[in-house]
Amino acid sequence: MKTRLTRISLLAAALPLLWIPSCKDAGGGPAATEIVIGEVAALTGGTATFGQGSHAGTQMAVDEAGTVVKKLISREKAVAILGEVASSKSLEMAPICQKAGIPMISPASTNPKVTEVGDHIFRVCFIDPFQGTVMAKFALARGWKKVAIVTDVKQDYSVGLSDFFKKYYTANGGTIVSEQSYSSGDKDFKAQLTALKGSAPDAIFASGYYNEAGLMAVQAHELGITVPMLGGDGWDSPSLTQVAGKAMEGNFFSNHFAAEDASPIIQDFVKRFTAKHKSTPDAMAALGYDSMMILAAAMKKAGTTEGKAVRDAIASTKDYQGITGKITLDEKRNATKPAVILTIKDGKFVYVETIAP
Ligand code: PHE
Repeated sequence: MKTRLTRISLLAAALPLLWIPSCKDAGGGPAATEIVIGEVAALTGGTATFGQGSHAGTQMAVDEAGTVVKKLISREKAVAILGEVASSKSLEMAPICQKAGIPMISPASTNPKVTEVGDHIFRVCFIDPFQGTVMAKFALARGWKKVAIVTDVKQDYSVGLSDFFKKYYTANGGTIVSEQSYSSGDKDFKAQLTALKGSAPDAIFASGYYNEAGLMAVQAHELGITVPMLGGDGWDSPSLTQVAGKAMEGNFFSNHFAAEDASPIIQDFVKRFTAKHKSTPDAMAALGYDSMMILAAAMKKAGTTEGKAVRDAIASTKDYQGITGKITLDEKRNATKPAVILTIKDGKFVYVETIAP
């Protein structure tokens, strides 16, 4: 048992992550009526706002689900793991959780490989074959027949998303006129942008995360590239427009959630979250919240924190009304949910449309 805990803690330390035994007492160990859940969320580095968002949502759900959680049996180890957001990080954690028999729920990792690791690994979000299709359909519907793709080769998420975009887009009449790549942390995209400019695309699909996408938008403008840029959920960060300023205006990205959605469920969540955190929840906050609520519901259903029983209860999640939509986990432990498309207007994310699976 010690080995399991140590190994997971070590992983957490290695990734600049936050390791939260959520319900610890002051003495450091779990109190008699509490259970330990590990949460892994990057609070620093290139995807810091993802971890901050998912942590805020998860914590809110812990507070609200407290009565359920407190009734359950305590153990000297984490009985379940929530995390991570970025697919490459989830792919590092998943084999360890699977081997230890500890259920893991990723709130937001969309790369298909994450849940393929094994039967203890779940997610509450849609996956990238769908997300890539959504953005390809959107580009085609706008009449953009030639797209240049820019991929972050260091991220499983970006590599997969570019690939899924390309498959649907080219099978349905689109042409990829240029394929460029970079590595997470790069700051200069002028060579890639100059190369793709020569191919005269109607739009650019930038499948990486917000920091690089923001810098790319600025440099594209500097090079006189005026075509729209498209992205996936990896753009969802307050930093996107902080980095890019006006250069992001009029661009589009797919996401899990739109804070301005008028549905009562979303508006109620936005109100409660804003009251608590003094900021509007992003998709990670909503997904973090949903992942914790689904875990709490599963533990309640199982009536125990034993790994296999909790795993089975999570696997049977059906029509759970989350903030990010109705969640049913299929036999591959994935959720099928609609995506929203957002645009950037006056520095804000504005809802454009919802695309159903
Ligand atoms: N889907 C991204 C990934 O798998 C993470 C992400 C989710 C980012 C939601 C932003 C919003 O890496």
